[in-house]
Amino acid sequence: MAAHQTATLKRYEAFADDIAHLIRSGRLQAGDRLPSVREASHGRGISPSTVFQGYYLLEDRGLIEARPRSGYFVKSRPTIDESCEPDVSEPAARSHDVTVSELVFQVLSQARNRDIVPLGSAFPSPTLFPLEKLSRATGKAMRRIDPWRTVEDLAPGSVTLRRQIALRYLASGYRVAADEIVITNGAMEALNLCLEVVTMPGDVVAVESPTFYGSLQALERRGLRAVEVATHPRHGVELEALAAVLDRHPVKACWFMTNFQNPLGALMPTENKRELVAMLAQRNIPLIEDDVYGELYFGNGKPPPAKAFDRQGLVLHCSSFSKSLAPGYRVGWAAAGSFVHSVAQRKLMSSLGAAVPSQEGLSEYLQHGAFDRHLRQLRQVFEANQAIALRAIGRWFPSGTRVTRPEGGYFLWVELPRSVDALQLHRLGLAQNISVAPGHLFSPDRGFAHCVRINVGHPNDRRVESALRTLGQIARSMV
Ligand SMILES: Cc1ncc(COP(=O)(O)O)c(C=O)c1O
Repeated sequence: MAAHQTATLKRYEAFADDIAHLIRSGRLQAGDRLPSVREASHGRGISPSTVFQGYYLLEDRGLIEARPRSGYFVKSRPTIDESCEPDVSEPAARSHDVTVSELVFQVLSQARNRDIVPLGSAFPSPTLFPLEKLSRATGKAMRRIDPWRTVEDLAPGSVTLRRQIALRYLASGYRVAADEIVITNGAMEALNLCLEVVTMPGDVVAVESPTFYGSLQALERRGLRAVEVATHPRHGVELEALAAVLDRHPVKACWFMTNFQNPLGALMPTENKRELVAMLAQRNIPLIEDDVYGELYFGNGKPPPAKAFDRQGLVLHCSSFSKSLAPGYRVGWAAAGSFVHSVAQRKLMSSLGAAVPSQEGLSEYLQHGAFDRHLRQLRQVFEANQAIALRAIGRWFPSGTRVTRPEGGYFLWVELPRSVDALQLHRLGLAQNISVAPGHLFSPDRGFAHCVRINVGHPNDRRVESALRTLGQIARSMV
């Protein structure tokens, strides 16, 4: 019985593979009718149920579709529209120890090589930033610096820079005092310090699903457990699912990206942010808000962070200039609410302060530079790149591929047919000098194995389009 089943399995898979090959090679085209079940069964000498099984498999792979009373047809290539977006995630209900770091280091170490097309990178192209203007601002600031600033700029950081940051909050319509801000070495340090202040090893932290691997690494580093919350690809964390998680687990903090979440690009609606802050305030749970992409919106105005609704000092808002203005300067901050003194003390204990030239240079640029003009250009580049990449993905990726269409940032999250193994795609891509970030990196249980994150933050030249075409071809060979 078992042997007979195995033989049948092999036959329907072989049948499906033959048809898939005809489709990929172009001998069967979109809209072509496949042989009827009777014809195929006669022609190949297999039973009608084997033919059916083969057709079901091809349907699952997104290659063919059944039309009522007409038979099976080759599906047309996907057009990427809203119905092709990935679904809300369905994470496991349990919490996890986190051990992703080794995989993250392995996968991402190659992505820094400039000869590799960096579709897997977390960074936008460094060529898109006003590095010359920044260096002039830094030179100017450092030439006339009062020597005592080198001491005064230790944690919580340069008062002029903190005032500039506070002014940007104010210009966006909400008040965050300069005294509430601690300058850090990039957002990553701000996030780590905040996490240390609000948790103890062994605690449970709620994260999105999928989530930025950097947040998982921070949890791993501190010996925390992660519980994932269902996340919508466009609206972010599902608040009902969050409430259920908070009822079930002793969550000590939440770590969410409310604006252009990495990797989904989700933007939490303003009303949801307000509700989120209220829900957590009711339970006295701090929110670590990771908001490094908030400036990179394509719409008319900057979306507020959840911090805008914080009345109790429970939101620790973390951001940086790394993705918006000054990559490599390593300047970020935490607007840490009622935790500001603990965060500043931890910053002093761990690294005393952020580098003075970076702080003073940025401070000078923000006062006299053209940050907003630069941001307008940057957003336009990312939006245009996104449109080109979406077209290329629609054209070259396997039928059944789903992709997000974020309203800001520079990532696309691509859900491939389930038979595609993203780690294998990453390896085969690297062999052709293309990096891609496999979905395995974005969840503590290595889910999302058929998903990849694609960076569209690099000049959209021939190289990128041809890399997307090659990736699509590799993925199609796995379907
Ligand atoms: C969501 C998110 N948070 C934080 C960071 C780290 O930011 P920074 O380079 O300022 O430390 C990154 C960088 O990839 C990120 O994607």
